[in-house]
Amino acid sequence: MAWPDGLPPLSLPIIGAPLFIISNPDLVIAQCKNGVIGAFPALNARPMDALDDWLTRIRQELAAHKAAHPQAEIAPFAVNQIVHPSNDRLAHDLDLCAKHEVPIIITSLSAPREIVPRVHAWRGLVFHDVINVRHAKKAIDAGVDGLILVCAGAGGHAGTLSPFAFVEEIRKLWGGPVALAGAVTTGRGVLAARALGADLAYVGTRFIATEEANAEARYKRMIVESDAAGIVYSPYFTGVHGNYLRQSVIDAGLDPDHLPESAKAMSFEQAKAAEAVKAWRDIFGAGQGVGAIDDILPAAAVIARMRREYLAARDSLLGA
Ligand SMILES: Cc1cc2nc3c(=O)[nH]c(=O)nc-3n(C[C@H](O)[C@H](O)[C@H](O)COP(=O)(O)O)c2cc1C
Repeated sequence: MAWPDGLPPLSLPIIGAPLFIISNPDLVIAQCKNGVIGAFPALNARPMDALDDWLTRIRQELAAHKAAHPQAEIAPFAVNQIVHPSNDRLAHDLDLCAKHEVPIIITSLSAPREIVPRVHAWRGLVFHDVINVRHAKKAIDAGVDGLILVCAGAGGHAGTLSPFAFVEEIRKLWGGPVALAGAVTTGRGVLAARALGADLAYVGTRFIATEEANAEARYKRMIVESDAAGIVYSPYFTGVHGNYLRQSVIDAGLDPDHLPESAKAMSFEQAKAAEAVKAWRDIFGAGQGVGAIDDILPAAAVIARMRREYLAARDSLLGA
């Protein structure tokens, strides 16, 4: 695997993807203790000074776990920063990441040109998420250490490219670490991501249906009960195309089959309705991989099962 020097091995090659509102220290600590990279959006720590406490707690609990279990493969953690003028916390949050020397910064939206040298100064890594090759080239130009390819079917804001097409094109121009996102919910899917040429899978929706995730019970249950046909892809809720649970759209009093494509196309009644419901709070983000999620478990159990599935799939392909 094209994995940067100095990082510990992972028990399973995945990043637990950052999830707005949902990712919290409990989930990140459980992921890292069980050998996979845990991540959370900095914006989840509210008010913003809570970020200092979150980072202190994550560092302390992982260090204590290492002291108690010297053999354990404890993964590094990552903080997601939204690089956009609307994020007025960015400078503050980045200062705290510098103070705690956060191992990996995951950047979203604009290419993180100014952020890369800052993160490198504390020997951190920058991974940037992209939905097309044009954005990937900009990120490479900005000096990032890793790319996250967000493909069709991913939960939340997602692209439309097939992972088969996207990884092949990226591999022609980039030999560094690649994480692949979009509907990976089982160990078999993780192995498939590796077979395609990615180093890691980037797994979001599977971790919503965990005990640690900060999501209401109705949301977790809806994930367990849904399948790929229960996902709608629409720009209606945030102005950017994303994947959401169809049932949550219906429960909010909207018709998932007749959502306008843009704010301009909305009638007055539709615009009022869009204002009244809040993406992420009322409209639940989730990817097409929901059909393979049948239970709500502790994150440790999800990771252990994915690891068993990953090894079994690898053995079966190798004819062992
Ligand atoms: C509810 C939800 C919230 C998300 N919030 C964020 C976020 O705050 N920042 C971000 O970079 N990506 C966010 N994502 C995208 C994920 O990090 C990741 O790309 C996606 O979950 C991967 O696809 P999968 O859900 O099919 O595994 C979110 C996804 C979901 C489902």
